[in-house]
Amino acid sequence: MAKYKIALLPGDGIGNDVMDAAKIVLEKIELDAEYFEGEIGWKYWCTEGNPLPDRTLELLRETDVCLFGAITSKPKEDAEKELDPSLRGKGYTYFSPIVRLRQEFDLYTNLRPCKAYSGNPLNYRDGIDLVIFRENTEGMYAGVEFHPLPDKVREALLIHPKMEKFKDVPADEIAISTRIMTKKGCERIVRQAFEYARKYKRKSVTVVEKPNVLRETGGLMLKVAREIAKEYPDVELWEANVDAMAMWLVKNPEDYDVLVAENLFGDIISDLAAQLVGGLGFACAGNIGDNYAVFEPTHGSAPKYAGQYKVNPIAMLLATKMMLDWLGENEKAQRLENAIAEVIKEGKVRTYDMGGNASTLDVAKAVADKL
Ligand code: NAI
Ligand code: MG
Repeated sequence: MAKYKIALLPGDGIGNDVMDAAKIVLEKIELDAEYFEGEIGWKYWCTEGNPLPDRTLELLRETDVCLFGAITSKPKEDAEKELDPSLRGKGYTYFSPIVRLRQEFDLYTNLRPCKAYSGNPLNYRDGIDLVIFRENTEGMYAGVEFHPLPDKVREALLIHPKMEKFKDVPADEIAISTRIMTKKGCERIVRQAFEYARKYKRKSVTVVEKPNVLRETGGLMLKVAREIAKEYPDVELWEANVDAMAMWLVKNPEDYDVLVAENLFGDIISDLAAQLVGGLGFACAGNIGDNYAVFEPTHGSAPKYAGQYKVNPIAMLLATKMMLDWLGENEKAQRLENAIAEVIKEGKVRTYDMGGNASTLDVAKAVADKL
Protein backbone atom coordinates (compact mmCIF):
# COMPACT_ATOMS: atom_id res chain seq x y z
CA MET A 1 0.00 0.00 0.00
CA ALA A 2 1.18 3.50 -0.80
CA LYS A 3 2.38 5.70 2.06
CA TYR A 4 -0.02 8.54 1.25
CA LYS A 5 -3.51 8.86 -0.15
CA ILE A 6 -3.87 12.16 -1.97
CA ALA A 7 -7.09 13.70 -3.24
CA LEU A 8 -6.85 15.71 -6.45
CA LEU A 9 -9.69 18.17 -7.10
CA PRO A 10 -9.04 19.94 -10.41
CA GLY A 11 -12.35 21.85 -10.33
CA ASP A 12 -13.29 24.17 -13.21
CA GLY A 13 -11.53 25.95 -16.07
CA ILE A 14 -7.77 26.30 -15.73
CA GLY A 15 -7.97 24.31 -12.49
CA ASN A 16 -7.75 21.33 -14.86
CA ASP A 17 -4.84 22.77 -16.84
CA VAL A 18 -2.69 23.41 -13.80
CA MET A 19 -3.64 20.08 -12.19
CA ASP A 20 -2.25 18.31 -15.27
CA ALA A 21 0.97 20.25 -14.70
CA ALA A 22 1.09 19.13 -11.05
CA LYS A 23 0.62 15.51 -12.12
CA ILE A 24 3.68 15.67 -14.39
CA VAL A 25 5.81 16.88 -11.50
CA LEU A 26 4.36 14.46 -8.92
CA GLU A 27 5.03 11.54 -11.23
CA LYS A 28 8.63 12.59 -11.74
CA ILE A 29 9.31 13.13 -8.05
CA GLU A 30 8.16 9.58 -7.26
CA LEU A 31 6.18 10.29 -4.14
CA ASP A 32 4.96 7.04 -2.60
CA ALA A 33 1.32 7.99 -3.02
CA GLU A 34 -1.95 6.88 -4.46
CA TYR A 35 -4.06 9.60 -6.11
CA PHE A 36 -7.84 9.87 -6.10
CA GLU A 37 -9.64 12.34 -8.30
CA GLY A 38 -12.71 14.09 -6.90
CA GLU A 39 -15.48 16.30 -8.22
CA ILE A 40 -16.00 19.90 -7.19
CA GLY A 41 -17.17 23.09 -8.83
CA TRP A 42 -19.70 24.86 -10.95
CA LYS A 43 -20.81 21.92 -13.07
CA TYR A 44 -21.92 20.04 -9.94
CA TRP A 45 -23.87 23.09 -8.83
CA CYS A 46 -25.63 23.19 -12.20
CA THR A 47 -26.37 19.47 -12.43
CA GLU A 48 -26.82 18.48 -8.77
CA GLY A 49 -27.45 21.74 -6.90
CA ASN A 50 -24.27 21.13 -4.87
CA PRO A 51 -20.79 22.35 -5.88
CA LEU A 52 -19.21 20.08 -3.26
CA PRO A 53 -21.02 16.73 -3.49
CA ASP A 54 -21.11 14.47 -0.42
CA ARG A 55 -19.12 11.81 -2.29
CA THR A 56 -16.28 14.32 -2.60
CA LEU A 57 -16.35 15.08 1.13
CA GLU A 58 -16.22 11.33 1.80
CA LEU A 59 -13.29 10.96 -0.55
CA LEU A 60 -11.42 13.71 1.28
CA ARG A 61 -12.11 12.08 4.64
CA GLU A 62 -10.43 8.92 3.34
CA THR A 63 -7.29 10.72 2.18
CA ASP A 64 -4.34 12.37 3.94
CA VAL A 65 -4.28 15.63 2.05
CA CYS A 66 -5.86 17.42 -0.91
CA LEU A 67 -4.50 19.31 -3.87
CA PHE A 68 -7.10 21.64 -5.33
CA GLY A 69 -7.17 23.51 -8.65
CA ALA A 70 -9.78 26.27 -8.91
CA ILE A 71 -13.50 26.66 -9.22
CA THR A 72 -15.92 28.98 -10.95
CA SER A 73 -18.51 30.80 -8.89
CA LYS A 74 -21.07 33.30 -10.13
CA PRO A 75 -23.50 35.82 -8.61
CA LYS A 76 -26.82 34.73 -7.16
CA GLU A 77 -28.90 35.45 -10.27
CA ASP A 78 -26.64 33.47 -12.61
CA ALA A 79 -26.49 30.62 -10.12
CA GLU A 80 -30.26 30.28 -10.27
CA LYS A 81 -30.39 30.65 -14.06
CA GLU A 82 -27.80 27.95 -14.67
CA LEU A 83 -29.23 25.44 -12.23
CA ASP A 84 -30.80 22.46 -14.01
CA PRO A 85 -34.52 23.23 -14.59
CA SER A 86 -35.54 20.08 -12.71
CA LEU A 87 -33.82 21.43 -9.56
CA ARG A 88 -35.13 24.99 -9.63
CA GLY A 89 -37.41 26.22 -6.87
CA LYS A 90 -36.43 23.28 -4.63
CA GLY A 91 -34.49 25.30 -2.11
CA TYR A 92 -30.99 24.81 -3.50
CA THR A 93 -28.69 27.75 -2.75
CA TYR A 94 -25.14 28.14 -3.93
CA PHE A 95 -22.37 28.22 -1.34
CA SER A 96 -18.62 28.54 -1.74
CA PRO A 97 -17.15 25.04 -1.74
CA ILE A 98 -13.80 26.38 -0.54
CA VAL A 99 -15.31 28.11 2.46
CA ARG A 100 -17.25 24.91 3.13
CA LEU A 101 -14.04 22.84 3.02
CA ARG A 102 -12.39 25.21 5.49
CA GLN A 103 -15.31 24.87 7.88
CA GLU A 104 -15.83 21.14 7.41
CA PHE A 105 -12.21 20.26 8.17
CA ASP A 106 -11.50 23.20 10.51
CA LEU A 107 -8.67 24.40 8.27
CA TYR A 108 -7.93 27.40 10.45
CA THR A 109 -4.58 28.39 8.99
CA ASN A 110 -4.32 30.01 5.61
CA LEU A 111 -0.62 29.93 4.82
CA ARG A 112 0.59 32.17 2.00
CA PRO A 113 4.29 32.22 1.18
CA CYS A 114 5.35 35.12 -1.06
CA LYS A 115 8.88 34.80 -2.34
CA ALA A 116 10.60 36.75 -5.10
CA TYR A 117 12.39 34.01 -7.06
CA SER A 118 15.46 35.40 -8.65
CA GLY A 119 15.08 36.06 -12.38
CA ASN A 120 11.30 36.44 -12.28
CA PRO A 121 10.64 39.47 -14.50
CA LEU A 122 7.43 40.10 -12.55
CA ASN A 123 9.16 40.69 -9.21
CA TYR A 124 8.45 44.09 -7.76
CA ARG A 125 11.83 43.89 -6.10
CA ASP A 126 14.38 41.17 -5.29
CA GLY A 127 14.91 39.85 -1.79
CA ILE A 128 11.25 39.54 -0.77
CA ASP A 129 10.57 36.39 1.23
CA LEU A 130 7.40 36.74 3.30
CA VAL A 131 5.15 34.15 4.82
CA ILE A 132 1.62 35.17 5.80
CA PHE A 133 -0.51 33.33 8.35
CA ARG A 134 -4.12 34.32 7.88
CA GLU A 135 -6.79 33.08 10.29
CA ASN A 136 -9.20 31.18 8.07
CA THR A 137 -12.39 30.49 10.04
CA GLU A 138 -13.54 33.53 12.02
CA GLY A 139 -13.02 37.30 12.27
CA MET A 140 -14.72 39.47 9.68
CA TYR A 141 -15.54 36.39 7.58
CA ALA A 142 -17.28 34.47 10.36
CA GLY A 143 -20.43 34.96 8.31
CA VAL A 144 -22.64 36.43 11.06
CA GLU A 145 -24.39 39.19 9.14
CA PHE A 146 -27.78 40.91 9.22
CA HIS A 147 -29.86 42.68 6.61
CA PRO A 148 -32.58 43.68 7.21
CA LEU A 149 -31.72 44.14 10.87
CA PRO A 150 -33.86 42.01 13.18
CA ASP A 151 -35.37 43.93 16.12
CA LYS A 152 -33.82 41.56 18.63
CA VAL A 153 -30.33 42.21 17.31
CA ARG A 154 -30.90 45.97 17.35
CA GLU A 155 -32.18 45.82 20.93
CA ALA A 156 -29.19 43.81 22.05
CA LEU A 157 -26.78 46.22 20.37
CA LEU A 158 -28.45 49.18 22.06
CA ILE A 159 -26.70 48.25 25.29
CA HIS A 160 -23.70 49.87 23.58
CA PRO A 161 -23.91 53.71 23.70
CA LYS A 162 -22.46 54.09 20.19
CA MET A 163 -25.47 52.23 18.79
CA GLU A 164 -27.73 55.09 19.84
CA LYS A 165 -27.26 57.01 16.59
CA PHE A 166 -28.51 54.02 14.55
CA LYS A 167 -31.56 53.57 16.77
CA ASP A 168 -34.13 54.80 14.24
CA VAL A 169 -32.62 53.70 10.92
CA PRO A 170 -35.25 51.51 9.20
CA ALA A 171 -34.39 47.79 9.36
CA ASP A 172 -33.95 47.48 5.61
CA GLU A 173 -31.68 50.53 5.45
CA ILE A 174 -29.04 49.17 7.78
CA ALA A 175 -26.72 46.20 7.38
CA ILE A 176 -24.42 44.67 9.98
CA SER A 177 -21.48 42.32 9.50
CA THR A 178 -19.78 41.18 12.68
CA ARG A 179 -16.11 40.64 13.44
CA ILE A 180 -16.01 37.70 15.80
CA MET A 181 -12.67 36.65 17.24
CA THR A 182 -12.04 34.13 19.95
CA LYS A 183 -9.07 33.71 22.24
CA LYS A 184 -8.67 30.18 20.93
CA GLY A 185 -8.83 31.40 17.32
CA CYS A 186 -6.20 34.06 17.94
CA GLU A 187 -3.98 31.72 19.92
CA ARG A 188 -3.84 28.95 17.41
CA ILE A 189 -3.02 31.16 14.41
CA VAL A 190 -0.40 33.16 16.32
CA ARG A 191 1.16 29.95 17.60
CA GLN A 192 1.37 28.55 14.07
CA ALA A 193 3.18 31.70 12.99
CA PHE A 194 5.71 31.50 15.83
CA GLU A 195 6.27 27.77 15.39
CA TYR A 196 6.98 28.38 11.72
CA ALA A 197 9.35 31.25 12.52
CA ARG A 198 11.26 29.08 14.97
CA LYS A 199 11.41 26.08 12.64
CA TYR A 200 12.68 28.07 9.67
CA LYS A 201 14.85 30.43 11.76
CA ARG A 202 12.94 33.56 10.81
CA LYS A 203 13.83 36.72 12.71
CA SER A 204 10.40 38.21 13.33
CA VAL A 205 6.67 37.66 13.47
CA THR A 206 4.61 40.79 12.71
CA VAL A 207 1.09 40.86 14.05
CA VAL A 208 -0.99 42.93 11.63
CA GLU A 209 -4.05 44.46 13.30
CA LYS A 210 -5.76 47.75 14.10
CA PRO A 211 -6.05 47.69 17.90
CA ASN A 212 -6.12 51.49 18.22
CA VAL A 213 -9.54 51.51 16.52
CA LEU A 214 -10.85 47.95 16.72
CA ARG A 215 -10.09 48.00 20.40
CA GLU A 216 -11.83 44.79 21.41
CA THR A 217 -11.09 42.36 18.59
CA GLY A 218 -7.78 43.94 17.62
CA GLY A 219 -6.93 44.29 21.29
CA LEU A 220 -7.54 40.60 21.91
CA MET A 221 -5.32 39.56 19.01
CA LEU A 222 -2.51 41.82 20.21
CA LYS A 223 -2.77 40.65 23.80
CA VAL A 224 -2.62 37.02 22.72
CA ALA A 225 0.34 37.71 20.43
CA ARG A 226 2.30 39.40 23.23
CA GLU A 227 1.57 36.50 25.57
CA ILE A 228 2.59 33.80 23.10
CA ALA A 229 5.69 35.75 22.01
CA LYS A 230 7.12 35.26 25.52
CA GLU A 231 7.46 31.55 24.78
CA TYR A 232 9.61 32.30 21.72
CA PRO A 233 12.54 34.45 22.88
CA ASP A 234 14.36 33.45 19.68
CA VAL A 235 11.77 35.29 17.53
CA GLU A 236 10.97 39.02 17.71
CA LEU A 237 7.36 40.17 17.86
CA TRP A 238 6.66 43.22 15.71
CA GLU A 239 3.33 45.04 15.73
CA ALA A 240 1.86 46.91 12.78
CA ASN A 241 -1.44 48.54 11.97
CA VAL A 242 -2.95 47.04 8.84
CA ASP A 243 -3.16 50.35 6.96
CA ALA A 244 0.46 51.18 7.71
CA MET A 245 1.38 47.61 6.78
CA ALA A 246 0.03 48.20 3.27
CA MET A 247 2.50 51.07 2.96
CA TRP A 248 5.40 49.17 4.49
CA LEU A 249 4.82 46.22 2.20
CA VAL A 250 5.27 48.49 -0.79
CA LYS A 251 8.12 50.48 0.74
CA ASN A 252 10.24 47.82 2.50
CA PRO A 253 8.80 44.38 1.78
CA GLU A 254 12.20 42.73 2.21
CA ASP A 255 12.30 43.72 5.91
CA TYR A 256 9.48 41.35 6.87
CA ASP A 257 9.59 37.62 7.61
CA VAL A 258 6.37 36.17 8.99
CA LEU A 259 3.08 38.08 9.19
CA VAL A 260 0.03 36.97 11.14
CA ALA A 261 -3.45 38.45 10.74
CA GLU A 262 -7.17 37.98 11.13
CA ASN A 263 -9.19 36.66 8.18
CA LEU A 264 -10.10 39.90 6.33
CA PHE A 265 -6.85 41.72 7.02
CA GLY A 266 -4.91 38.59 6.06
CA ASP A 267 -6.91 38.29 2.84
CA ILE A 268 -6.03 41.81 1.83
CA ILE A 269 -2.35 41.85 2.73
CA SER A 270 -1.80 38.46 1.13
CA ASP A 271 -3.09 39.70 -2.22
CA LEU A 272 -0.89 42.77 -1.90
CA ALA A 273 2.12 40.62 -1.05
CA ALA A 274 1.38 38.17 -3.88
CA GLN A 275 1.50 40.98 -6.39
CA LEU A 276 5.01 41.90 -5.19
CA VAL A 277 6.32 38.52 -6.32
CA GLY A 278 4.59 37.92 -9.65
CA GLY A 279 0.86 37.90 -9.00
CA LEU A 280 -1.65 35.15 -9.68
CA GLY A 281 0.72 32.89 -11.59
CA PHE A 282 2.88 32.59 -8.47
CA ALA A 283 0.52 32.85 -5.50
CA CYS A 284 -0.06 29.59 -3.65
CA ALA A 285 -1.80 28.80 -0.39
CA GLY A 286 -2.29 26.10 2.16
CA ASN A 287 -5.55 25.73 4.11
CA ILE A 288 -4.29 23.82 7.09
CA GLY A 289 -5.96 22.23 10.10
CA ASP A 290 -4.66 19.90 12.77
CA ASN A 291 -5.53 16.77 10.79
CA TYR A 292 -6.09 17.74 7.19
CA ALA A 293 -4.93 20.30 4.67
CA VAL A 294 -5.91 21.58 1.23
CA PHE A 295 -3.25 23.17 -0.98
CA GLU A 296 -4.13 25.39 -3.92
CA PRO A 297 -3.02 28.12 -6.26
CA THR A 298 -4.99 31.18 -5.21
CA HIS A 299 -6.09 32.11 -8.73
CA GLY A 300 -9.55 31.27 -10.00
CA SER A 301 -10.74 29.26 -13.00
CA ALA A 302 -9.91 32.00 -15.58
CA PRO A 303 -12.65 30.82 -17.99
CA LYS A 304 -11.18 32.66 -20.98
CA TYR A 305 -8.06 30.46 -20.82
CA ALA A 306 -9.78 27.19 -19.85
CA GLY A 307 -8.34 24.15 -21.60
CA GLN A 308 -5.80 26.20 -23.54
CA TYR A 309 -2.80 25.21 -21.41
CA LYS A 310 -1.69 28.78 -21.54
CA VAL A 311 -1.60 29.89 -17.90
CA ASN A 312 1.32 29.74 -15.53
CA PRO A 313 1.42 26.52 -13.49
CA ILE A 314 4.04 27.82 -11.04
CA ALA A 315 1.44 28.76 -8.38
CA MET A 316 0.14 25.19 -8.58
CA LEU A 317 3.64 23.70 -8.50
CA LEU A 318 4.49 25.81 -5.44
CA ALA A 319 1.25 24.59 -3.83
CA THR A 320 2.46 21.05 -4.54
CA LYS A 321 5.75 21.91 -2.86
CA MET A 322 3.82 23.16 0.20
CA MET A 323 1.88 19.90 0.27
CA LEU A 324 5.11 17.87 0.26
CA ASP A 325 6.41 19.93 3.19
CA TRP A 326 3.19 19.42 5.13
CA LEU A 327 3.43 15.67 4.56
CA GLY A 328 6.94 15.78 6.01
CA GLU A 329 8.56 15.07 2.62
CA ASN A 330 10.92 18.00 3.11
CA GLU A 331 13.70 16.70 0.89
CA LYS A 332 11.34 16.25 -2.05
CA ALA A 333 9.75 19.64 -1.31
CA GLN A 334 13.16 21.30 -1.38
CA ARG A 335 14.12 19.55 -4.62
CA LEU A 336 10.88 20.71 -6.21
CA GLU A 337 11.37 24.27 -5.07
CA ASN A 338 14.96 24.25 -6.37
CA ALA A 339 13.76 22.94 -9.73
CA ILE A 340 11.08 25.65 -9.99
CA ALA A 341 13.60 28.31 -8.95
CA GLU A 342 16.06 27.10 -11.62
CA VAL A 343 13.47 27.21 -14.38
CA ILE A 344 12.49 30.74 -13.35
CA LYS A 345 16.11 31.85 -13.19
CA GLU A 346 17.05 30.40 -16.60
CA GLY A 347 14.08 32.24 -18.11
CA LYS A 348 13.93 29.96 -21.15
CA VAL A 349 10.49 28.44 -20.53
CA ARG A 350 7.98 31.12 -19.62
CA THR A 351 4.21 31.42 -19.92
CA TYR A 352 2.57 34.53 -21.34
CA ASP A 353 2.33 36.38 -18.03
CA MET A 354 6.14 36.27 -17.77
CA GLY A 355 6.53 37.49 -21.32
CA GLY A 356 7.02 34.07 -22.94
CA ASN A 357 4.92 31.74 -25.06
CA ALA A 358 5.54 28.38 -23.43
CA SER A 359 2.52 26.29 -22.45
CA THR A 360 1.42 25.25 -18.97
CA LEU A 361 2.75 21.76 -19.62
CA ASP A 362 6.05 23.01 -21.12
CA VAL A 363 6.77 24.70 -17.80
CA ALA A 364 5.82 21.58 -15.84
CA LYS A 365 8.08 19.45 -18.06
CA ALA A 366 10.95 21.91 -17.67
CA VAL A 367 10.58 21.67 -13.90
CA ALA A 368 10.32 17.87 -14.06
CA ASP A 369 13.53 17.76 -16.13
CA LYS A 370 15.41 19.56 -13.34
CA LEU A 371 14.22 17.14 -10.67
P1 NAI B 1 -8.97 34.42 -12.06
O1 NAI B 1 -7.93 34.24 -11.03
O2 NAI B 1 -9.64 33.19 -12.54
O3 NAI B 1 -8.34 35.12 -13.34
C1 NAI B 1 -8.13 36.50 -13.51
C2 NAI B 1 -7.07 36.72 -14.56
O4 NAI B 1 -5.80 36.53 -13.98
C3 NAI B 1 -7.11 35.74 -15.70
O5 NAI B 1 -7.99 36.12 -16.70
C4 NAI B 1 -5.70 35.76 -16.16
O6 NAI B 1 -5.47 36.89 -16.95
C5 NAI B 1 -4.94 35.90 -14.86
N1 NAI B 1 -4.51 34.60 -14.31
C6 NAI B 1 -5.15 33.84 -13.39
N2 NAI B 1 -4.44 32.74 -13.13
C7 NAI B 1 -3.34 32.80 -13.88
C8 NAI B 1 -2.21 31.95 -14.07
N3 NAI B 1 -2.08 30.79 -13.40
N4 NAI B 1 -1.27 32.32 -14.95
C9 NAI B 1 -1.39 33.46 -15.63
N5 NAI B 1 -2.40 34.31 -15.52
C10 NAI B 1 -3.38 33.99 -14.64
O7 NAI B 1 -10.04 35.45 -11.47
P2 NAI B 1 -11.45 35.93 -12.04
O8 NAI B 1 -11.39 36.11 -13.51
O9 NAI B 1 -11.84 37.06 -11.20
O10 NAI B 1 -12.46 34.74 -11.72
C11 NAI B 1 -12.77 33.69 -12.60
C12 NAI B 1 -13.59 32.66 -11.86
O11 NAI B 1 -12.78 32.06 -10.84
C13 NAI B 1 -14.80 33.26 -11.15
O12 NAI B 1 -15.86 32.37 -11.30
C14 NAI B 1 -14.36 33.37 -9.71
O13 NAI B 1 -15.43 33.30 -8.82
C15 NAI B 1 -13.46 32.17 -9.58
N6 NAI B 1 -12.42 32.25 -8.52
C16 NAI B 1 -12.09 31.09 -7.89
C17 NAI B 1 -11.08 31.06 -6.98
C18 NAI B 1 -10.68 29.74 -6.42
O14 NAI B 1 -11.07 28.72 -6.95
N7 NAI B 1 -9.87 29.70 -5.40
C19 NAI B 1 -10.33 32.27 -6.60
C20 NAI B 1 -10.69 33.43 -7.37
C21 NAI B 1 -11.71 33.41 -8.29
MG1 MG C 1 -8.37 36.78 -1.60
